[in-house]
Amino acid sequence: MTQEFDVVVIGAGPGGYVCAIKAAQLGLNVACIEKRDTLGGTCLNIGCIPSKALLHASEVYHQASHIMDKFGVKTDKVVLELDKMMKHKDTTVDELTKGIAFLFKKNKVTPFYGTASFVDANTVNIALNSGDKQIIKAKNIVIATGSDVMSLPNIEIDEQTIVSSTGALKLPNVPKHLVVIGGGVIGLEMGSVWSRLGAKVTVVEYLDRITPTMDIEISKSFQKILEKQGMNFKLSSKVTAVNKKSGNHEVIIEAATGGNLEKIECDVVLMSIGRKPYTEGLDFAKAGIVADNRGRVEINDHFQTNQKNIYAIGDVVRGAMLAHKAEEEGVAVAEIIAGKHGHVNYNTIPSVIYTWPEVSSVGKTEEELKQENIEYNVGKFPFAANGRAKAGLNVDGFIKILADKKTDRVLGVHMIGPDVGNMINQAAMAMEFSASSEDIARSCHAHPTTGEVFKEAALAAAFGKALHS
Ligand code: FAD
Ligand code: NAI
Repeated sequence: MTQEFDVVVIGAGPGGYVCAIKAAQLGLNVACIEKRDTLGGTCLNIGCIPSKALLHASEVYHQASHIMDKFGVKTDKVVLELDKMMKHKDTTVDELTKGIAFLFKKNKVTPFYGTASFVDANTVNIALNSGDKQIIKAKNIVIATGSDVMSLPNIEIDEQTIVSSTGALKLPNVPKHLVVIGGGVIGLEMGSVWSRLGAKVTVVEYLDRITPTMDIEISKSFQKILEKQGMNFKLSSKVTAVNKKSGNHEVIIEAATGGNLEKIECDVVLMSIGRKPYTEGLDFAKAGIVADNRGRVEINDHFQTNQKNIYAIGDVVRGAMLAHKAEEEGVAVAEIIAGKHGHVNYNTIPSVIYTWPEVSSVGKTEEELKQENIEYNVGKFPFAANGRAKAGLNVDGFIKILADKKTDRVLGVHMIGPDVGNMINQAAMAMEFSASSEDIARSCHAHPTTGEVFKEAALAAAFGKALHS
């Protein structure tokens, strides 16, 4: 007999699995279909989690090799055991993906391991990983099939020496020279990992600055700090070919506007020019669903496709490709299906780059405010003037708060510095409560913490003056 559910979620990434759990918690009968053998999607299997495991481990290695000595901690010889580092990453992934399976069981979500395709707007076919096939029916369906790597037409990713992030997470040896195509989040995070472990890293970026959607002042400061760490940048440049040679590859670089041919040799190339929505094999046209001109499933403000009972969330729809954005949308859709008022405030979704120092932001950049003709005050404060940062030798970076000139409401917060990936959450929360910069300036911050930099930047935005500068 065909099984029938209130909700069938296709894809068990952070969007899909969170949606499935929340819907089940709201009393609905839920199934989640995943084509991998493990749950957690890109994020847990080949994205956020393994990359953060390597970022953390490589930073420990860097600290032991170059920093600990400055604290009076002398080590005889620091030895890199790459296999062990990779094992730490794999164990972390394994335990966390199993954790989602446990949560499904606990919340009574029925998992199906196989590839889903639409039969019609209420029926899904599953080509099970076991080789069998199963048809299930659903009152509501949520598409959460995520995204996939983008490449350049003339460069073939082999995941050995021309890799995407997936291959860069499991290189068997430290490259001698890693050429990164694309100076965005993946390029700089994975570039940092291999640079700390000893690779020469050259980043080729098409635009005239790295992390182009970020506040310009932060992105310029970020580049300087990465250069100080040994990373090389070729801006306003494009890679037109990678000639595979035995031993080394020859990377052909041109100016973005054409001309100025340059060749560089390297042993590994990382392709990180962005990701694209993934809908392959879904056959969503059979359910009458359409995609926009960038391949994203089209949705309205309530996450509904043009079939009212079919929703879509996460990387496969418009907006930032971030795990926590997908999760928020998953919760909102579960609530909407359960007859509640789910919604997502896109103005307060933070973003973080987990390099060291970390980079984070929430809300508008200065450039966006100028473009929108919104008058604003700026408050800035450097980590170099913070006691805790100084004690930990973490003096690079600053925090910048942008507040509305008339109302003082915080419109954007941009951070570069130690642990600002954690600190941005308090900025997001303040903005969610429509805080003014004076509200933050008058909130007591514990001493000595790096969080005091946030308060000082708020003082500067609210009163034109910080206390400790
Ligand atoms: P996904 O996580 O991509 O999950 C979709 C799932 O659907 C997949 O498991 C896929 O197998 C499954 N699927 C697809 N088609 C079918 C089908 N027909 N049938 C059944 N199953 C199907 N974001 C952050 O916020 N922080 C980070 O630190 C971060 N780091 C990242 C690092 C890397 C290297 C990468 C690549 C990404 C990173 N991201 C990060 C982005 C983050 O991983 C994504 O934004 C997030 O995973 C999107 O969630 P999702 O649920 O929309 O899709
Ligand atoms: P990205 O969009 O962050 O960066 C791509 C970069 O490549 C841009 O700077 C772009 O200008 C450049 N580029 C594009 N075409 C190029 C070309 N032909 N030659 C040279 N440069 C070119 O994409 P990335 O880094 O691949 O990451 C994909 C997604 O994964 C992002 O949307 C990001 O949100 C997500 N992600 C998030 C992380 C986090 O939150 N910490 C970590 C890793 C990924």
